[in-house]
Amino acid sequence: MSDHLTRAFSPATLGQLPLKNRILKAATYEGKTPEGIPGELLLNFHKGIVQGGTAMTTIGYCTTEADGRINDQMMWMHEGIRDQLTHMNRELKNAAPGVAISGQMTHCGNFSKNRKLQRLKRPLGPSRQFNSLGAASGMPFAGAMTVRDIDYLVQTYADAARLMKETGFDAVEIHFSHGYGLSQFISPRTNRRTDEYGGSLTNRMRLPLRALEAVRKAVGGDFPILGKIGLTDGIKDGLHIDEAIEVAAMLDTAGIDALICSGGTSSFNPMLYFRGDTLEKGLIEVEKNPIMKLGLKLIGSRMFRFYPYEELYFLDDAKRVRDRVNCQMVYIGGCTDVPSIEKVMAEGFDFIQLGRPLIKDPDFVKHAMADRNYKNGCIHCNRCASLIEAPGGIYCPLNLEAEAS
Ligand SMILES: Cc1cc2nc3c(=O)[nH]c(=O)nc-3n(C[C@H](O)[C@H](O)[C@H](O)COP(=O)(O)O)c2cc1C
Repeated sequence: MSDHLTRAFSPATLGQLPLKNRILKAATYEGKTPEGIPGELLLNFHKGIVQGGTAMTTIGYCTTEADGRINDQMMWMHEGIRDQLTHMNRELKNAAPGVAISGQMTHCGNFSKNRKLQRLKRPLGPSRQFNSLGAASGMPFAGAMTVRDIDYLVQTYADAARLMKETGFDAVEIHFSHGYGLSQFISPRTNRRTDEYGGSLTNRMRLPLRALEAVRKAVGGDFPILGKIGLTDGIKDGLHIDEAIEVAAMLDTAGIDALICSGGTSSFNPMLYFRGDTLEKGLIEVEKNPIMKLGLKLIGSRMFRFYPYEELYFLDDAKRVRDRVNCQMVYIGGCTDVPSIEKVMAEGFDFIQLGRPLIKDPDFVKHAMADRNYKNGCIHCNRCASLIEAPGGIYCPLNLEAEAS
């Protein structure tokens, strides 16, 4: 085994958290929290992941408040699920001693079809805007947050982080990308505010930095905080790489422990972060709302623009961020083969997050450790991602088809 692969599969520390190797599970909202409750479905999915050799799994899309949910089945961090979270984290650690668990902290901002709003009358983002996701559910417009709303949002990050630490998470990952709440503030396309939260990058970063500060205060100095940022929105007037590097530098200076660099937005061009086959066809199949189904048929091809798959598709831009910051770097995006793991390590990244490869094969890390020529088998058909709202949530259809044949 090369020195780089040996490094990938050897113990490391994330901030001050010891990990058994450098391969981490990426946040992938799995659609396994019916009524927002983290029960057996979610536990069993992540049990498979942690038993497969991954050093740290990430529970995706843990929203910081009820109204931060994209749909009404998502989990939000609140006292009502304290016992379930504690149980899940305990069981995962029992299933794979030495494994760590991270939770991705998110808020949908202006992009939501959740009609069961608790505090708000409609979704809120930085500026008044068309809510493409909510249009078919009777919420075509999102409003603009007041400064009071912003203060409240910051508090939800603090409260959620505290709960997550208390219930056995070992790290948190703040979602600053993919067109959700905090990323809507960072992007000049969605943030058209004229107060101290809009305009210059310093102003657009004010809320994201306040959220980071609040989370740090809640969890303390030695608890790892990761941040997932966008390298580019990939849309006209959106965030571009030069500004993204400055976003990274600002988060680094503010004390983030590690950065993960993705790109694209769920609202305008999700295929930028997935690459490969379009999600459109699968989403149309699963969609229950007839208006949404029709909308997807009519404008799906414009929204799900085609970006061909290539291994390590974010590597070049992520290296530019790596060169600018002092914090640890986690590579994400199209790392499907063992030689790709080797390459990312050779480029000096500290960790690698895998999404689809671990959905395809939860035992990938064990297999890769044993055999450099092991093939993961994920073909980036993205059918797993189309299933996030299917009954029971995501799975790899290729595996099911292989079992059936
Ligand atoms: C089913 C599915 C759900 C996802 N949900 C999330 C999510 O909740 N949060 C997030 O930041 N990224 C999400 N992603 C994107 C992944 O974290 C990752 O950025 C992307 O899949 C590229 O990594 P990969 O090539 O290793 O799969 C999701 C991806 C998939 C396949």
